[in-house]
Amino acid sequence: MNILILGGGGREHSLAWAVMQNPKCDKLIVAPGNAGIAQIAECATLDIENGREVVAFCEATAMDFIIIGPEAPLAAGVADKLRDAGFLVFGPSQAAARLEASKHFTKEICDAAGAPTASYGHFTDAAAAKAHIRAVGAPIVVKADGLAAGKGVIIAETVAEAEAAIDDMFGGAFGEAGAEVVVEEFMTGEEASFFVLCDGETALPIGTAQDHKRAGEGDTGPNTGGMGAYSPAPVLTDAVAEKALDEIIRPTLREMAARGTPYTGVLYAGLMIKDGAPRLVEYNVRFGDPEAQVLMMRLGAQVLDLMQAAAEARLHEARVNWANDHAMTVVMAAAGYPGSYEKGTEIKGLETCPEDSFQMVFHAGTREEAGRILASGGRVLNVTARGESLGEAAARCYAMVDRIDWPDGIYRRDIGWRAL
Ligand code: AMP
Ligand code: GLY
Repeated sequence: MNILILGGGGREHSLAWAVMQNPKCDKLIVAPGNAGIAQIAECATLDIENGREVVAFCEATAMDFIIIGPEAPLAAGVADKLRDAGFLVFGPSQAAARLEASKHFTKEICDAAGAPTASYGHFTDAAAAKAHIRAVGAPIVVKADGLAAGKGVIIAETVAEAEAAIDDMFGGAFGEAGAEVVVEEFMTGEEASFFVLCDGETALPIGTAQDHKRAGEGDTGPNTGGMGAYSPAPVLTDAVAEKALDEIIRPTLREMAARGTPYTGVLYAGLMIKDGAPRLVEYNVRFGDPEAQVLMMRLGAQVLDLMQAAAEARLHEARVNWANDHAMTVVMAAAGYPGSYEKGTEIKGLETCPEDSFQMVFHAGTREEAGRILASGGRVLNVTARGESLGEAAARCYAMVDRIDWPDGIYRRDIGWRAL
């Protein structure tokens, strides 16, 4: 099989690493890729949000299977363009990608499906939103309706803070994404992520994870895209997962199918779990980053067969082979992240890190220049390992972190502390 992966972060490095190990993979191209991906696959320059350009590239390179990593090409309808041209694709249609691209849409689906989630109001003008906020009181959650690169959610501790968020959103702070706003009940409990492959009808769970969103140790400091993750998530027990499938995921799939927009690809459900009962926080229509890195470490080569089964609507006959293991990833970021940071600092020592089915340094934001690896983003490396226990995985991760010689890098020393 000739396979194309769209994307260029740590998620796509881990996907490429797993796919490459499957003997079905004859040729792998990743667009745009990064310096780490370039060590295992061919990288191509391509506007991955331009469906026509992606189709032309796939025709020219005789691709058999296209795996779409990030949400932006999905929301732009790249999967539709590829399917219309006859390609096999892993990832939802533009219509189904609204489960991530519009918070209000997801709320409507939950209402129609009877799926437990936070109560909410939906607003297109500031006065009505503020009246609702004053009536409900704080804490309360204000969300820009559209895609806002993870920044469109404000957890307001006071009514004044929530009103200020409303003014920001309707004032254009999030562009088009903030033209509509969802105001939600603040939920308490423990958060975990549930990953389920879908082929329009069948739902196949492929793992759970928890991440650390805060920049600082002890889960303090500013929000980030994620400073580390581990799998499985202890709070997402088999019983909670079964409940989430019965009450949230399967009703969602039925509702999407009934609307003529069946969901295929990976559905990433962010859940809030309290007293054994899960409620939906949000859907994403792609793998999490860095959650994919721990899932790929645990699933390995079989993930290609599973993604192909999802794309071919054969999930009812697919089986996941579980190892009773644990995986962890530690994110190394450029000093200053999530604020402003320097680009182009050199990373040394990567060649001293082991690379095998138990440990791998995935690249999230790197580029190569004259044989040197340079940081090119905020989150730069995902140091990932698995073990029989989470403690063993953590020891392997931090042993690699200690080998990496990057004075300009920062990371958290306490990933997984709740579970450890
Ligand atoms: P989202 O982009 O919807 O996942 O929101 C980002 C983060 O905000 C989530 O991972 C939660 O930690 C938090 N969050 C979002 N909605 C709620 C809610 N209704 N109650 C409590 N926390 C929330
Ligand atoms: N790590 C959170 C996300 O990928 O959305």
